[in-house]
Parts: sequence; structure tokens; C-alpha cells
Amino acid sequence: MLFIDQVDIAGKKILFRVDFNVPIEDGVITDDNRIRAALPTIQYALDKGASVILCAHLGKPKGKVVPELSLGPVANRTGELLGRGVALVPGRIGDQAVKMAADLAPGQVIMLDNLRFNPEETGKTPEERGDFGKLLASLADVYVNDAFGVAHRENASVVDVPRFAKVCCAGFLLKREYEYLGEALKDPKRPYVCVSGGAKVSTKLGILNNLLGKVDDIIIGGAMANTFLLAQGHEVGQSLAEPDLVDAAKGIMAKAKSMGSTLHLPVDFRYAKTPKAKQAEGVCKADAIPADALVLDIGPETITDFVAVLERAKTIVWNGPMGLFETTAFAKGSLAVCKAIAGLDDALTIVGGGDTDAVVHMMQLDDKFSFISTGGGSFLEFLEGKELPAFKALKECMK
Ligand code: 3PG
Repeated sequence: MLFIDQVDIAGKKILFRVDFNVPIEDGVITDDNRIRAALPTIQYALDKGASVILCAHLGKPKGKVVPELSLGPVANRTGELLGRGVALVPGRIGDQAVKMAADLAPGQVIMLDNLRFNPEETGKTPEERGDFGKLLASLADVYVNDAFGVAHRENASVVDVPRFAKVCCAGFLLKREYEYLGEALKDPKRPYVCVSGGAKVSTKLGILNNLLGKVDDIIIGGAMANTFLLAQGHEVGQSLAEPDLVDAAKGIMAKAKSMGSTLHLPVDFRYAKTPKAKQAEGVCKADAIPADALVLDIGPETITDFVAVLERAKTIVWNGPMGLFETTAFAKGSLAVCKAIAGLDDALTIVGGGDTDAVVHMMQLDDKFSFISTGGGSFLEFLEGKELPAFKALKECMK
């Protein structure tokens, strides 16, 4: 795979696939981190005298032109951050985009409107995607993918453009993801610990199965732990759980034992009668969860256990909070895990997934982690051991 700093881009026209899928409320961007994350690559290209065509998606318009999902506000914000005008090419991508791209002068930047206004972008098969990738590739001399957030999507702008582009490479954001996730974890320093949390076992089964045997320890928290409690024979009261996955949980417990990974499950919890509660009603042991309550965070004994495992780790990958961290009374477990990981000086520490990033930002400990992935679904699929379509396409295009 080539990276942008290995390619001659001076004075060239560049098509950038970026992930600018930012939250917008009443036309106002409420978090512009994704735009900021791609700026170094765009600025690098502009400094080399390139002209830039940005393309991205917003939400799921499903092939229709949905005005509320226009990238207009994103183009404006990108312009402000770059300190130069970024004209939006409105509507579906067609003749106007071709003309504006052809007229671009060095140093100029345009942004194509939401790629997903074009039904072909998200077509499930190459036939459904048609020539859309070819059209996009024809707008520029070089294709740069800097959108890790969509690296797991078989979208035309991710997998087809590289087949038609004259030159294609990864930008700096994708390069960092590739180096940390792809390379650094190939031969991890041990103990290697995975911390998995969040609501559902169903979304993490692939990860757990892939990591068993590769990691030394797996820490499980959040509501997904409740399904494991059921597998251990405990009652979980009104807690969120997936009873139909009890057998899968039992399978993971057995596999962990036979493959040499130690599974760490919570032994106590903070609970309340409703998820809307502002305070915990108490702390209970795993075998004494009140029938009319639900567990909303791990308890103090569990925090001590988990922190002890984390403190001796040399490599940690963390995805998913330990409880309902949005409510202060149930954020203790997630914050303790976050603090323990952030406090490690000589370990490689990687975090990914929206909610987990939110915990790190909440604690303002961003700079204490080795790497915070910009991926949500793409980070999870990477942890499942899948080859991400974006990386595959970039590797194949320059063969
Ligand atoms: C994200 O927000 O995770 C990425 O932009 C991918 O978006 P998608 O799930 O709509 O493909």
C-alpha cells in the first residue's frame, strides 16, 4: 500500500475520500473532530501545490437527494479551518462536478455533495455500483483515501475508485490507523489485554472469538457482561441481557480456558430500579442482583480486579464502556478503567469506538493514550480480524 508521502502529487488534482460524517443539529456542526482529523493530509497536498476535490458521505440518504443531509455546512466549516474557500458541488455527482473539477486551479478546494445522494455509492454489488467509481476516479489524477471510518464499507468511493484511479494511496490519517492497528498489534508486547464493554454480546462475538488465544486477558464489562452472568447461572433481574446468546457466552468461556486467555468478569455491580436513575440504589454481588433492579455499572471490587489486570499490561485494546457512563453515578467503572490505562507509561494503549472515545474525552485524557482510532464499525471489524475493504482495495490498486 502506498502512502501520500510516497507519491508525486505536486501540482496534481487529488480526489480525497474523507469521513466527514459529523453530527449536525439545525445546520450547525456540534463536533468537528472528524474534519480536523483529515486536515493534515489536505494541508500537505495544498502545500505541494495540488488542487483538492473532497468527497464524503453524511448519514444514510439511501440514494435520494435529502437537503438536510447536504454537506453544505461541512464545506463551510472545512473552509474556515483551512482558511480558504471550499465550494460545494450541489446535488448528485455528474456534469457539474466534472466541469468544476476540470476548472480547478492549484491550491483550490471543492467538495462534492453527499456521495450517498447517488444510489450507486452504496450498491451492494459491483453491478449495482455501476460506473460510479469510474466517474469519481476520472475527476482527478490521484485518489487519496483518508477515511478510516468507512474502511469497512464496500462503497464505490472506497473500493471501486482505486480500480480506476491512475494513482492511489492512503492519507496520513489512514496511515496512522494502519500502523497502529495493522502493524503494532501483529507482535504485541505481553501481557496483551483486551477490554470489551458496551451493551450487547451480539456485536462483540466476532471480536471475542478472534482475540481468544491471541490475548492474555479479556476483561468484560458493560451490559454485555450480563449475558455471561446468565451463562454462569446467575439471575440478572431487569438488566439488559441476551438470553439467546447464553450458549455462545458459554462457548467463549470454554474456548478462553482451552486457548489460554483469562476471562475476567464482573463480580459486583452498582444497580438501580430504572436506567433513568440519577443515583445508584446500592452495590450487589453477581449472585445477589435484586429481581426488580438492573445493574448499570461495575462495582468497587470489580474495579479493583480489573485495574490490577490493567496495571501489569504492556498492550491494551479497549472498546466499549463498563456501564451507563453518561450518568455520573454509573460512570465510575468506565472512568476507573480509563484512568488505569491512561496511567501506564510503557504500554501500547489503543482505544476505539464512539462511546469509548467519549469516555476518554470526558476525562480529558486523550493525550495519555498511544492511539485513539477514528473508526466505529471499522475499528470493530478490524478487531474481528477481517481485512478491511479499503486496505484491500488500496493494496490491489497499485499492483
Ligand atoms: C461512521 O460514522 O461510523 C462512519 O462514517 C460510517 O458511517 P456508516 O455507518 O453510515 O457507513
